[in-house]
Amino acid sequence: MKIGIIGLGTVGFGVVEILTEQKERLEKQFQTEISIKYGCSLEEVTLPKGVIYTQDYHDIINDSEIDVVVELIGGTTIAKTIILDALNKGKHVVTANKALIAHDGQEIFETAKKNNAKIYYEASVGGGIPVVVPAKEDLIANEIEKIEGILNGTTNFILTLMETDNLDFDEALTIADGLGYVEADASLDLDGIDAAHKIQILAMNAFEKFFDYQKIKATGIRNVTKKDMDYAKQLGYRIKLIAQAKKLDQGIGIDVSPTLISIKDMVANVNQAYNVVEITCNYLENVIFYGKGAGRYVTASAVVSDIIKTLKEDMWNHDYQYTDDIYPITYSKYYIRCEHELDNLDYEMYFSQKKDHVYITNHIELVDLQKQLQGEDYTLFKVRG
Ligand code: HSE
Repeated sequence: MKIGIIGLGTVGFGVVEILTEQKERLEKQFQTEISIKYGCSLEEVTLPKGVIYTQDYHDIINDSEIDVVVELIGGTTIAKTIILDALNKGKHVVTANKALIAHDGQEIFETAKKNNAKIYYEASVGGGIPVVVPAKEDLIANEIEKIEGILNGTTNFILTLMETDNLDFDEALTIADGLGYVEADASLDLDGIDAAHKIQILAMNAFEKFFDYQKIKATGIRNVTKKDMDYAKQLGYRIKLIAQAKKLDQGIGIDVSPTLISIKDMVANVNQAYNVVEITCNYLENVIFYGKGAGRYVTASAVVSDIIKTLKEDMWNHDYQYTDDIYPITYSKYYIRCEHELDNLDYEMYFSQKKDHVYITNHIELVDLQKQLQGEDYTLFKVRG
């Protein structure tokens, strides 16, 4: 097998290192040569002996010896052209590009099918945690009912830091940024966009439907304050950025929002930059995938697994129908903080502290709750349960 890697940043170099270190073992196990023929990036880099450096990705996709093209440049413009070109040349593709699969998955999978080429994207969700492949293969006996999890490590790191080090959002963000956690476009992490890309990919496979990414309502963590975290804690909850997708009577419910999770739940205890994905299905009932959601070797581990997967017989298809039946998940319990005591609110917990009145409501439709809150200045988060 000959491989061309396009994009030699953090993850790309991790893939080069792993494939170099593990070459002998992998070749022995799969009884075939596994070698990187090209590394492509705009910045000149030093590659192991025998690997050809190029700045022009066409060198890779036009080389008839190349079996697998690994796309690790990210984004939805040039990366899309590269992937479509590679598939149209009959090359297998491995990518970590969550935004691209979320936005243009349907076109990419159709192109792969037309060309009898394989495309794998485990590294696009949950970094190194195997979740795309297990959900698509090992849970095949099951109908998936719900997927829920923490899919963005950066925001989880920030929320953890706010709690453990008693910091405000901005202070925690500065530290996360200094450690290199935050994406170049911080909005992807902070506004829940990255988590929305990932839940779309999981939901697409779980419910066997394509749908428009723009239909996902994502709220990030910018409005999570230390004060609300403290109040949540007093009520036995922690605030996490939760991505969720589930079957509804009318279609698929999908949502990304800061959510109060009972401290007794495993998900509430997933801290730092760790990710977790909880899948509820009809036979296995409940399964949890937990691990590191980002990092050089962590993500490269998933990329290398996908590269090796192209050697095996492909049992995947993405012959999904397109659906418009995508809805926000609005029937929930809610946390409310406001300045006045609320009459007629159906709640299960309440306390007041200083000028604040804090409630956990019973299950209610968001529009009905908003009607009751008309005229109030309030902060509101979802509550799981
Ligand atoms: N920005 C992403 C995160 C990187 O924080 O989870 C991994 O996809």
